[in-house]
Parts: sequence; C-alpha cells; structure tokens
Amino acid sequence: MKMSFVDYKVDGHVGYITINREEKFNALSSAVLQDISDILDNVDQDTIRCLVITGAGKKAFVAGADIGQMESDKTGSTADFGLFGSNLFLRIERFPIPVVAAVNGYALGGGCELAMACDIRIASDNAKFGLPETGLGIIPSFGGTQRLPRIVGPSIAKEMMFTAKRIDAEEALKIGLVNAVYPQDELMAKAGDLASKIASNAPMAVRAAKEAATFGIEMPIEEGLALELKCVKPCFGSADQKNAMRAFVEKRKPDPFINR
Ligand code: COA
Repeated sequence: MKMSFVDYKVDGHVGYITINREEKFNALSSAVLQDISDILDNVDQDTIRCLVITGAGKKAFVAGADIGQMESDKTGSTADFGLFGSNLFLRIERFPIPVVAAVNGYALGGGCELAMACDIRIASDNAKFGLPETGLGIIPSFGGTQRLPRIVGPSIAKEMMFTAKRIDAEEALKIGLVNAVYPQDELMAKAGDLASKIASNAPMAVRAAKEAATFGIEMPIEEGLALELKCVKPCFGSADQKNAMRAFVEKRKPDPFINR
C-alpha cells in the first residue's frame, strides 16, 4: 500500500511502516501523522505479529514535528496538532502488536517521541537523539516529558530536556534509550531479525505480555499483578498454548503458532 507520506509493506508476519518525507528529514506534519494513523487502522491484526517503524533515507528517522507548520500557524491549530500527535503516539504505545523503532538517523523532538512510544528501539550508528524543544520555546508534547523519564530515569531525562542537547547512538545505548546499535547498512536486517523472532512466538502470549507490561508499569504492584493474571487467563486453553506445552512434553518442536 502506498500513501502520500508513509509506506507500508508486509513481509510474512511483519509489517514495515516507513515515514517517507525524506527531503524534510521525515518531519511530522499533520498529513504525516494522519497517514500513520490510517496505516494503523489498516494493519491486519490476524496476520501481523510485529510492526517496525523507520524513516526513509540514510539521514533521519524523524527530525521532529514540522517546525514550518508550527511557525506559520495563524489559527491556533497547533493545539489540535499536539493533541492528535499525543493521542497517536499513545495508540502506538498501546497498539496490541509489538512495535519496534528502527532509528536510522536523527530522532529529534517528535522523532525521539515517536521512537519512545514504540516498545523497543534499535539504532544505526549514525543515529542522534534529543528533545530540542526548550530551545524552540516549547516543551516536548507528543509524550516526551512523560516517556523519557520512564525509559532512562528522571535525572538523565531532565538534563536532556533542559539542555536540549543531542546524544549519539552509543550514548543512547549507555542510558538505555536504545537496546542495540548496528552499522547503518545492517539496521533493517537486524530489525527484521528481531521482529521475526518476536513473530515466531505465540501471538496471543506476546500481546498479553505487552499489555501486562505497558499498563502494569503505571500501577501499584498489586494491581499490576492482578492485570498480569487477567492477561494470562485467555492464553491458557488456547491452541498455541496446548501445542507448545504438548510439544515440550513430547520433546519436539511445536507446530507453527496460529494466533488462536
Ligand atoms: N520540521 C520541518 N522541516 C525540517 C525539520 C523539522 N523538524 N527538520 C528538518 N527539516 C527540513 C529542513 O528545513 C530542510 O528543508 P529545506 O531543504 O527545504 O530547507 C531539510 O529538512 C533538511 O534539513 P537541514 O537543516 O538543511 O539539514 P542539516 O543536515 O543541516 O540538519 C537537522 C539536520 C536535523 C540537525 C536540522 O534539520 C534540525 O535541527 N532540525 C530540527 C530538529 C528539531 O528541532 N526538531 C524538534 C522540532 S519541535
């Protein structure tokens, strides 16, 4: 499927979303955000078991929200833009299927926020991360002030936000903002390997693990543990659970999982 600013390609059980506005370093305009939203509407959740999000070209994942659009706003529509982006990124965070960000260059402002809304981030060695908004007279408002402290801890997050500094991929790895760094020409293959590994496990179980971890982290431990039990319940008795446990007992590989 080809849309104006975002491409979507399926390979087996993995869906690849590519933000394709290379001449503007994949900056997020309203149209780009709308296209991402439309793609998510059309993901076949029966077949797809992992999504990968990346940016077109070799320079940028996403260089932020569209500064030109915000600067020229005469009607106050930037507030709607902020709300749309914030809701969209929350939807990505809560999307039933795991989402991997393959960060292939600049991930600044809204680009860093998009990556942070994903479940897992891997990066190319030329990637640069940062929340430069305070240098532009605003603050991150697609979830950056909330997710960066949750991912790297409040002290490092506040330093990054208050100074608006950029960090490179190695630094991002050191602080836990990304899980791994690869040479740029290997990034998409590594993203594919990771997504395929995720897709090889029982989809109901992977989705249950995502739901328990994503929502549970916001809860007191007792509520999180109750959520965990709620999430595991439908897994027991599923065809995939029966298949996998029977195979273990019979000392053989399970049949391919069927998402039932
Ligand atoms: N919004 C709109 N356009 C953007 C953009 C953004 N966030 N980031 C980059 N672009 C555009 C540039 O305007 C330029 O377009 P043009 O060729 O029509 O002038 C093009 O992308 C390439 O950017 P350029 O600045 O020429 O490339 P560079 O290699 O010198 O610098 C960056 C790359 C990413 C460091 C620089 O573009 C930048 O600082 N971007 C803004 C990052 C930011 O502050 N994001 C947070 C927004 S809230």
